[in-house]
Amino acid sequence: MSTKLGTLEELPPDYREAMSRVGVAPLWPQMRNVLPHGGPVPVTKSHLWAYSDVRPLLLRAGELTPVEKAERRVLFLADPGRGNGAMQATATIYVGLQLLLPGETAPAHKHTPSAARIVVEGEGAYTVVDGDKLPMHAGDLILTPGGCWHDHGHAGTKPVIWLDALDLPLFVYLEGSYAVEAPLQSPRNRPDPSEVEYRAAGLAPVRRRDRAMPASYPMMRFPWERTEAALRRLAEHAGSQAVELDYINPESGQSCLPTMGFTAMMLRPGETARPPLRSTSAVFHVISGRGTTTINGTTHAWDPKDSFSAPVFAAIDHKATGDTPAFLVRIHDTPLQEKIGYYEERAR
Ligand SMILES: [Fe+2]
Repeated sequence: MSTKLGTLEELPPDYREAMSRVGVAPLWPQMRNVLPHGGPVPVTKSHLWAYSDVRPLLLRAGELTPVEKAERRVLFLADPGRGNGAMQATATIYVGLQLLLPGETAPAHKHTPSAARIVVEGEGAYTVVDGDKLPMHAGDLILTPGGCWHDHGHAGTKPVIWLDALDLPLFVYLEGSYAVEAPLQSPRNRPDPSEVEYRAAGLAPVRRRDRAMPASYPMMRFPWERTEAALRRLAEHAGSQAVELDYINPESGQSCLPTMGFTAMMLRPGETARPPLRSTSAVFHVISGRGTTTINGTTHAWDPKDSFSAPVFAAIDHKATGDTPAFLVRIHDTPLQEKIGYYEERAR
C-alpha cells in the first residue's frame, strides 16, 4: 500500500529556513522521486538519430573546425529526456559520431572512461591502441579501454566516420573523468592480435609462466566480417531463438569492457524480436538492413547506419522490413549492472 507522504509546504517556514541554514533537508517529501514503487522511472527518452540527418552536419564540422581545434571532431547524441546538449544518450552511455578527414590525425591520449568504436563509413583510417595499429573497416568494433593510449590516423582518400561509445556518464558521476595527452604513438610493425593470436574462436596463445593470468584486454579489434559470418551461421541453426552474439574477452570469457556490453544481433527478413524488459538502457546501431523498432509504443523506422536509444525496462519490438537480413549492435551496461549485483529481466 502506498501512503501519501508529507510535503515540504506542510512544514513551518522557520523550520525550513533552519534546515537550510545547517545544510540538511527532509527525505520524505522527495522519497518517492528516488525510490518509486515497483520499478524505476527512467529519465531517458527513446530517440532515433538518422544518419542522413547527422552526416551532413558532421561533414560541415569538417569545414568549420580543423581537427587541431577539436582534438576529437565529434557530434554526440543528446538524450531528449535530459534536454538539448545533454552529453549522454542514456543514463550510462555516451555515444558520439566522429569525423576524420584524409591525412588528419587525432593526437594520442588516454582517459579513465572506456570507449569502443564502431566504424560507420569510409576506409583507410586506423586507431593505434597501446602500440597496436588497428585498421578500421566498416562495422569493426574497436576497443580503447580506460587507461589505454589511443590515437587515430587516416591514410584513405574519403572522410571516415565512426561511432564512439563511452561509459563517460558513469565517470562524470564518479567525479573520476580525466584524460592525459601524449605525442602520436609509433605502432608495432605487425598485424593486430585479432589477426594473429586470436584468429579463431576457442584458440588462445599457450599460457606461459610469465602470463598465467588472462590479459585484461588481449584483443582490441573485432572485425565485422567475422561477426557477420558468425551471426549468419548461427541463424541457420537458431530456430526461433534470437540470433545474438556478445563481444567478449577471448581469454577470460567476460565482457570485453568493464562496464559496457556489446551484442551483435541479426534479424532475418521479416523476422520480429521481442526481448524481455531489461534493467539496462541501450543504444542500438544499425550496421546494415532496414526495419522498425517499437519502444514503449513509439515506432522508429531505421535504415543502415542509424542509431536509436531505449530507456531501462523498455518494451521493445524489432522487425526487419527489408529483403536482406538486418544487423544491429546493441550497446548496453549489463556488465556494470551484473558487477553491482543488480541486472534484472522481466517477462512481458
Ligand atoms: Fe579518447
